[in-house]
This record gives sequence, C-alpha cells and structure tokens, in this order.
Amino acid sequence: MATSVQLESNSMQSPTSVDGQPPRFVYVQTFGCQMNVNDTDRIHQVLAPYNYTPTTDPAQANLILLNTCSVRDRAEHKMMSRLGRLAPLKEFNDDLILGVAGCVAQQEGEKLLAKVPYLDLVFGPDHVAKLPVLLDRVRGSEGRVSETKFFKRKDYAFLEAEPRDDVKVSEFVTIMKGCDKVCAFCIVPFTRGREVSKSPEMIIREVKKLVAGGAREITLLGQNVNSYGKDISAKGDRVPTFAQLLRDVDAIEGVERLRFTTSHPMDCIDDLIACFGDVPSLCEFFHLPVQSGSNEILEAMRRFYTRASYLARVENLRRQCPDIALSTDIIVGFPGETEAQFQDTLSLLAEVRYDSIFAFKYSERPGTRAAKMGDTVPEPEKKRRLAEVLELQAGITRAKMEAYVGQELEILVEGPSKKSSAGGEGRFQIMGRTRSNLIVNVPVPLGEFWSNRWIGRLAKVRVLEAKSNSLFGEFV
Ligand code: SAH
Ligand code: F3S
Repeated sequence: MATSVQLESNSMQSPTSVDGQPPRFVYVQTFGCQMNVNDTDRIHQVLAPYNYTPTTDPAQANLILLNTCSVRDRAEHKMMSRLGRLAPLKEFNDDLILGVAGCVAQQEGEKLLAKVPYLDLVFGPDHVAKLPVLLDRVRGSEGRVSETKFFKRKDYAFLEAEPRDDVKVSEFVTIMKGCDKVCAFCIVPFTRGREVSKSPEMIIREVKKLVAGGAREITLLGQNVNSYGKDISAKGDRVPTFAQLLRDVDAIEGVERLRFTTSHPMDCIDDLIACFGDVPSLCEFFHLPVQSGSNEILEAMRRFYTRASYLARVENLRRQCPDIALSTDIIVGFPGETEAQFQDTLSLLAEVRYDSIFAFKYSERPGTRAAKMGDTVPEPEKKRRLAEVLELQAGITRAKMEAYVGQELEILVEGPSKKSSAGGEGRFQIMGRTRSNLIVNVPVPLGEFWSNRWIGRLAKVRVLEAKSNSLFGEFV
C-alpha cells in the first residue's frame, strides 16, 4: 500500500495532517469501466497517508464512496439503489461520510447533493488527488461539498502510482484521461473532460514499478489511446506517438505481454497497425469499436469513418497480422435506426467475424447531441435487435472457439480459475489467457494448485474443449 503521494505537478492545498488521528476505514464500490477501477486505486493511494485502510464491509467504514458510471442509464440506476441501501448506516454512525465519485458525480454535481439529503460529498474524476482536502471541508464548516470543476489542461496533475504489495500478473496503466471526440451518443467527454496525456517518463516509471512487483502483462489505458501525446506536442514539447510509446514500453525488461484499450477507428493509423507482429510483447488482439454497420448511422453518431474505411482498416490489420483477434462495441437502436440500417450492422458482424463483441441498447444520455434526436426506437424493438446481434455473434464466437480445439497455445497464468471456487470437478483448475485474450482453464494436481507456482508463468497448453466463454486444456 502507498505511503506517499507524488503529483506530476502540484496544484493542491495541503489537507490536515494525519498526526494523532485514529485509524479509519474506507469502503469504495466501483461501477463501470477500467478507468473507474484505476481511479479507485488512486483513491486508496491518496487516502493511505491519512490513516485510511480499505475495508470490504460498509458497516465498518468511516468513509463510503461509490465510484460511479453514467455511460448508460442502467449503471446510473444501479448506483442510486445502492446509495439508498447504504443510507441507514448514517443513522448508526455520526462520523460516517457518504460520498459519490466518478462519472455520475461529475454529471450531476450539486443536483445530486440536493436530491440525496444524506449525501455528504460529490466529486468528479479530476478531484481524486484532492480527496483529503475535500474530506477536511466536509468535516469543517461546509458540511456538504460538491466539487466538479474540470482542471484546465495545464493544471491537471496525474497521481503517480506507487509500488504496492498486491500487484497482479496483469495490470493496467492509465496513459491519458478524457476524450476530445464528439460521438453523439457518448457522455464520456462531459464526465471525463478534455484529453490530457501522462508524461512518457511517468508511464515508464509506473510500468517498471509494476513489473518489479510481479506484473507480466501491461494494458495501456485511455478512452482513445491513439490520441496519446497530442495535447503535449501541441505545447511544443517532444513526446512519443502512441505507436512509439508501445515500443518504449515493450523495451522494458520483464514486460512479457502488452495490450491497450481503447482505440477510435479513425485514429487507427498505419504506424499503429505496423506494431502488430513487429513489437514482440504486443498481443495479437485489438478492440476496435465500430458501433454500427450503417453509413447513415455512423454519420449521425459523428464517428467520422464509413463502413468501407473501417473494413479497410480491419483488412490492413489482418494483412499485417493474420492471427489477430478482434473485438468491438455495437449500439443498437440509435435514434432513427431503421430495420435496414440495423441489418447493415448484422451484415458487418457476419463480414468481419469478430472473436467477441460487447453490444448495448442505445441509452439516451443528458446533454449529448443524440439526446436532441429523441429516443425513437421503442424498447421492445431495441431488445429484439440486441438479441439478434448476440445470437449471430454467439454462433461466430462458438465456431472460432471450436477451431482452437487440438491447438497448442501460450497462456499467461493469472491464478485460480473462477470454477475453482465453485467446487466440484473444476475445483483445482487454474486460469490463464492466450495472447488473443481467451481464457483457458487447466486442471493441476492439488499440491500445485495451493502452491501458486504457476502464477505469472507463461506456459504452453493443448486445447481439449471449447466451452461457451472459455477453453479447457492441459499443460503440454
Ligand atoms: N472509447 C471508450 C468508449 C467508452 S464507452 C472506451 O474506452 O471504451 C464504451 C462503449 O459503450 C462504447 O463504445 C459504446 O458502444 C457504448 N456506449 C457509449 N455510450 C452509449 C450510450 N449512450 N448508449 C449505449 N451504449 C453506449
Ligand atoms: Fe465516447 Fe466516442 Fe470518446 S465513444 S469516449 S466520445 S471516442
């Protein structure tokens, strides 16, 4: 756990010193994407010097934070109902501070404080580093605090991740925050603000610390990683392109596998494509969200590519790296989407034959351009379209998984398989991922299961069976 907090540049007030304060407990529940998971790590990091220990029991906590997601309204509803269930704890504990962080906090700000009378604190993602100061303000004369102003680009400071004692085999490193794109459906640019890139030096230091702590696989994280560094180079400072950054991270000793997420197809340019098959640790896997197969819908979504230009990129990628596994995001029921336009999405899925997809029903988000277009596709129709997309993809995924049976693949062992906790025949299985991001479960003798000796190792497995979402195999 962290013992100090380093900021890239320092624009913080100092919070009250920890001296003499009793130990406290913090409970954080994280909703949504990997960015939020990363912010939760930073929350723990920034609180540790102030005597806060993480707890998994909200009843034990002096501080409860919900780190929220607002990308679709379902995530938002889930968070509101969780808040309601936590409220009674306030009656038993006068000292308890209840707060909302993340994207709903950024989106709602003061309105959330007004709506939820027992809430003490609301703060957006830009303010994680300032959390101790915000807590002082809550305990002081202000009582209830909302802080959602975005920092100016030049004032934004990343928190440098410190060495931890719980480093996993596969770790994420945030390389930038925010998104400068204008996809009509998306709330992220409103909740996460403008793009700001972390300095390459800080990224390299973080990767080195993680590798020293036992990480073997690093995923570079950003809303649109291909834009990495553009904000820095606009100021005249020299900065690697994203493709160069991949090469620099690859060169760090101990990085066995490298991944990144997410890319916008518009920015998936040749120098990035050239990295596949050329940068040794870069895994043959690419998540390239297409959203729709219809040119009219892509234009209304303001995605700035066409079906044909997207397919051309897929073709380039496959030419460069024939084994590359592809995944994507799909939205069904975008405002005005006709049956014919929906069919274009199905035909694109059939044409590309992704290894896996994430598909969502369109969810109207306040303040976005798409919200002005009305939510025209009725819910039952969205449901039907989603079911069709999922059914088509299930067949493709199944066929692709079955094609692996009999093959020998390299996995990076992450730990006990999910099945091992369920008991039964899967009791002593461990799991690892292939470079193409597939999960393979492998049985091991009881003694080896408990010894953890496989964790973090690259090992060859022979695939014996394809299950619905994973493979089953044996060590070669
Ligand atoms: N570039 C980002 C995208 C964030 S949102 C990233 O890091 O992944 C993730 C996915 O959620 C999008 O690709 C899109 O398919 C889906 N999504 C975003 N806004 C949505 C909305 N209003 N309704 C339904 N799905 C949405
Ligand atoms: Fe959202 Fe589009 Fe950015 S989906 S995160 S606005 S690339």
